Amino acid sequence: MNALVSYDRRGPIAVVMVNNPPVNALAQGVRQGLKDGVAAGGADPEVKAIVVIGGGRTFPAGADITEFGKPLAEPGLGAVIDSMEMSDKPVIAAIHGTALGGGLEICLGCHFRVAAPTAQVGLPEVTLGILPGAGGTQRTPRLVGAQAALEMITSGQFVKAPKARDMGLIDEIVEGDLLDGAIAFAEKVVAEGRPVRRTRDLTVTADPALFEQFEKGIARKARGFLSPFKCIEAVRNATILPFDEGIRRERELFMELVTSDHSKGQRHIFFAERTAAKVADLPKDTPVRDVAAVGIVGAGTMGGGIAMNFVNVGIPVTLVEASQEALEKGLAVIARNYANTVSKGRLSQDAMDKRMSLITGTLDYADLAQADLVIEAVFEGMDLKKEVFGKLDATCKPGAILATNTSTLDVNEIAAATGRPGDVIGLHFFSPANVMRLLEIVRGAETSHEVIATSMKLARTIRKVGVLVGVCDGFVGNRILAAYLNQAFQMLEEGALPAQVDKVMYDFGLAMGPFAMGDLAGNDVGWRVRQERFPVASRDASYVGTIADRLCEAGRFGQKTAKGWYDYAPGSRTPVPSDEVEKVILAVSEEKGITRRQIDDEEILKRCLYAMVNEGAKILEEGIAQRSSDIDVVYVFGYGFPVYRGGPMFHADLQGLKNVYADVVAFHERLGDAWSPAMLLERLAGEGKSFSDL
Ligand code: 3HC
Ligand code: NAI
Repeated sequence: MNALVSYDRRGPIAVVMVNNPPVNALAQGVRQGLKDGVAAGGADPEVKAIVVIGGGRTFPAGADITEFGKPLAEPGLGAVIDSMEMSDKPVIAAIHGTALGGGLEICLGCHFRVAAPTAQVGLPEVTLGILPGAGGTQRTPRLVGAQAALEMITSGQFVKAPKARDMGLIDEIVEGDLLDGAIAFAEKVVAEGRPVRRTRDLTVTADPALFEQFEKGIARKARGFLSPFKCIEAVRNATILPFDEGIRRERELFMELVTSDHSKGQRHIFFAERTAAKVADLPKDTPVRDVAAVGIVGAGTMGGGIAMNFVNVGIPVTLVEASQEALEKGLAVIARNYANTVSKGRLSQDAMDKRMSLITGTLDYADLAQADLVIEAVFEGMDLKKEVFGKLDATCKPGAILATNTSTLDVNEIAAATGRPGDVIGLHFFSPANVMRLLEIVRGAETSHEVIATSMKLARTIRKVGVLVGVCDGFVGNRILAAYLNQAFQMLEEGALPAQVDKVMYDFGLAMGPFAMGDLAGNDVGWRVRQERFPVASRDASYVGTIADRLCEAGRFGQKTAKGWYDYAPGSRTPVPSDEVEKVILAVSEEKGITRRQIDDEEILKRCLYAMVNEGAKILEEGIAQRSSDIDVVYVFGYGFPVYRGGPMFHADLQGLKNVYADVVAFHERLGDAWSPAMLLERLAGEGKSFSDL
């Protein structure tokens, strides 16, 4: 047909095959080829049925996302699918790999569907801030019912072929060669004279209450998002409107979503996540080391969580502790975490036992001798880290990667405690380490290419999003966090209260505001850091930690002491504004001679966000992050930044860097040095460019 779609005849069966690697995305040429292929089959009197199949590793995995936001290049996918559905000759989809989004919508427009046993299908559009826009919201409920369609479409989750068959999405699972099986199926359809089955001719009904209930059910998880709610509306339409009218509304809703900032943000993160895996200065042929056995030093909060990541994917872990008591405690916490998952029905007891059996606890560093990778997660202190790395250097086999999970210390200094700094790297996990998907991979001055490449690959193996960063105080995530927290703290002195700041950030879409986050993580951590970084004698009026310090001095560490920035009722995690805290805040403002003022929500939002953006721009200038989208990935996957905002840097791009820069300059004039504008921001604003242009 064309370079992207081939057309062949196997006896009376036409085979239309898509060849657009890597995922057979439905770019314009593919759509055209499919349309022409089906038309050719229809026109050939020898052809009795048509099989549509993907070449290479998968059936089409969806529309070509890079085409979104550009003018539609005809033919539209909806029209292509219509032409298949309206064909008088049976059209059979043969599915392998992942038939996703527009790919699955093609299948739904075909008259029959067969699949390889390992195939998966899904409608993940919601994760891109859109909805299935080529009939998926109308045909799916007609085939599987409204409830199952709602679940698939609002979650975006993939469904494995056997389950898809049970649901009614797939007719038959084909063992052996898929194309041969699909042709055999097509011949049978022809031989039996089975009529074409058009999904559009089916009807679906549902109790109207279903949609309301469903909306309530997802309200918490989908807070702030637009698309899940539009998905529900579209599926509801399938139950009350004629097919063509439902399709027309689906199109309108699709257009509304695809042009929204939310979808732009979510699409940005889709590509940003994949781009983060690329390292500009790493030669393509850099060898990657095998990581088949892992050692972890320290079985505390982080060490335990880190261990779980590896045994979850079948990699055995040797866990070293300083005392038997700490080791037993650490192992017990891991077992408790797994037991919780088992009790929720999300893990079998067998799987838990298998994972626990992959962990070997020990007090002897010699047991790390054969590890391919050792991750140190002991207390945060340079002397201790150096001692541990000295021991690892003496114990571990040549070629072992020695990693530190430090969140603040200089990876180069740690590396210098060994005779093999090229093998040393930072692997900075985020708490809880078995849950948070971000992994900051901190490259030291001497870290070798091989060690970087292996670490990037490893992130994928343990299902993390690895982002390569350089050495600086706080790396990317915590350095930006510090700038954000400083503004939050300062605004308390100027006139805001914790609940006001938190509400603004929560409403913007963050999982929680800075003060609720402090209470969750423990305010004592920051308190200790400030004591070290800012000795009392060095503090002047610009020091903004006074209120936070006072609260810690009063034992207000957060949820763990049932009081922090907020009060907590016994056993509750619900923050309640605290009179005691307000008194401290007012007292500090007075001591500092600050006349408190009403700070409006817009200022709160801008100061929190633009402090992050300005710091992010400095990080880029210094080459600590490779690209601005990496900073967005760090914030979305490590800090609960709303994915539909696309991360702080993308959000700034959407506001226009000229506007952001003007605000930063104004804050600088009013608030001083903390706001010195990043040169990069100044330059881009002056050139009318955005971070995405870099
Ligand atoms: N459009 C354009 N590029 C795509 C793409 C798509 N739909 N899907 C994947 N790619 C690109 C990736 O960006 C990546 O490019 P790179 O190598 O240059 O970084 C390459 O294909 C390989 O992708 P992955 O690294 O993600 O490969 P995996 O094997 O890990 O995963 C996948 C494969 C499960 C198919 C995954 O790529 C994926 O989830 N893709 C998106 C699926 C999707 O969302 N489909 C719906 C699209 S919207 C739609 O169809 C609208 C319709 O309703 C009208
Ligand atoms: P933790 O206090 O919970 O655990 C540290 C563990 O190390 C303890 O169990 C201790 O017994 C053990 N240990 C101490 N010295 C040891 C030695 N010489 N050999 C073997 N084990 C030893 O601390 P946490 O929170 O797990 O932090 C560990 C590291 O991870 C620190 O560097 C910290 O900065 C970093 N980190 C912490 C995060 C957090 O949110 N807690 C997030 C990201 C990084």
